[in-house]
Amino acid sequence: MIRAVRATLRSLVAVLLEPSAPPDALARAAASLHGLLLRTSGLEDDPAAHRESTLPSGRALSPFDAGRCALDPVRTAVLLRGVRAAIAAAREHARGRRIEVLYAGCGPFAPLVLPLLVLEEAGDLRVTFLDVHVAAIAALRRVVERLEVGDAVADALVCDAAADAPVRGTAVDVVVVEAMQRSLGHEPQVAIVRNLVPLLAPHGVLVPERIRIDLVLSDPDVEIADGFASARAEAARVPVGTVFELSRWSASAPLDGDGFLPPVVVTLPVPIGPRARPMLFTRVDAFGAHTLATAASGLTVPEPLWRVPDLPAGSRLAFRYRLGSDPRLAWSSPAPP
Ligand SMILES: C[S@@+](CC[C@H](N)C(=O)[O-])C[C@H]1O[C@@H](n2cnc3c(N)ncnc32)[C@H](O)[C@@H]1O
Repeated sequence: MIRAVRATLRSLVAVLLEPSAPPDALARAAASLHGLLLRTSGLEDDPAAHRESTLPSGRALSPFDAGRCALDPVRTAVLLRGVRAAIAAAREHARGRRIEVLYAGCGPFAPLVLPLLVLEEAGDLRVTFLDVHVAAIAALRRVVERLEVGDAVADALVCDAAADAPVRGTAVDVVVVEAMQRSLGHEPQVAIVRNLVPLLAPHGVLVPERIRIDLVLSDPDVEIADGFASARAEAARVPVGTVFELSRWSASAPLDGDGFLPPVVVTLPVPIGPRARPMLFTRVDAFGAHTLATAASGLTVPEPLWRVPDLPAGSRLAFRYRLGSDPRLAWSSPAPP
């Protein structure tokens, strides 16, 4: 029985890892993966599975909703490919020792790492899973046990990954964090990354290795009508500049007294008006060439900033990322220098 489930999982992973897999094949594989992990985990029998939390660092989705993230097919596939590539890069430094992987905000199914554990190549992995929800970790422990992948698992811990130091004394090769929404709003991705990057070995890799938010002026009618994905939408766009970037290197910037990261100021090349509204475009570089492009997944759907007033060309807009229980990128329109 377990052999058959592991074989099914291996075949789903093969589809998700295949760069030329067509979108409908990815969607079917992601749905089957979610179904398999839901059945294996017994998550639906746990009344706590539907409870979400508001933490000092942001919103933690309920285990049930966190599990549903696996259903975003391109997200799941591209991040899984990125994690696998990051592990391969870490192997070059490991010289035969085991690869330490820390996956924070893993949810009940840990879909960005756990599926890799049924592959033969996973024999040298030592993974620690973290989630703030007891029901998520309990479900994940059942999955690990039932799929018989415990040899690769160091631990699965209930822990606030934005506040606690979960592993001590071990330099981590790969840190995986996916606790985010588009424009890095609401969920604590930034706070978790800030807390965990000090655990990385010098050669270590953060996945996603870079999350970039760009300000773009574009026509909302065209963008929305074309699902933010057409040559017509692309032609309507006027890039303004990068307003936030999260990487291993940028994560540790100091906060000011109000909990803000340093501001970025951009100057508008054209006026803001009805056909040129400001929008935040999120790009997620998982690792190497594995990138989530605009609108390829829920994480990278552009966010129109409807409240920014019409402004003339040459106006300046300041963006500051604010940590806290509702983290987000805040904008303001400063006076000219
Ligand atoms: C958007 S879900 C993603 C789940 C999984 N990483 C995936 O990619 O499908 C985010 C997960 O992060 C967890 N989480 C949020 N804040 C956390 C924190 N401060 N510490 C640990 N886990 C956290 C939530 O409980 C939830 O399971």
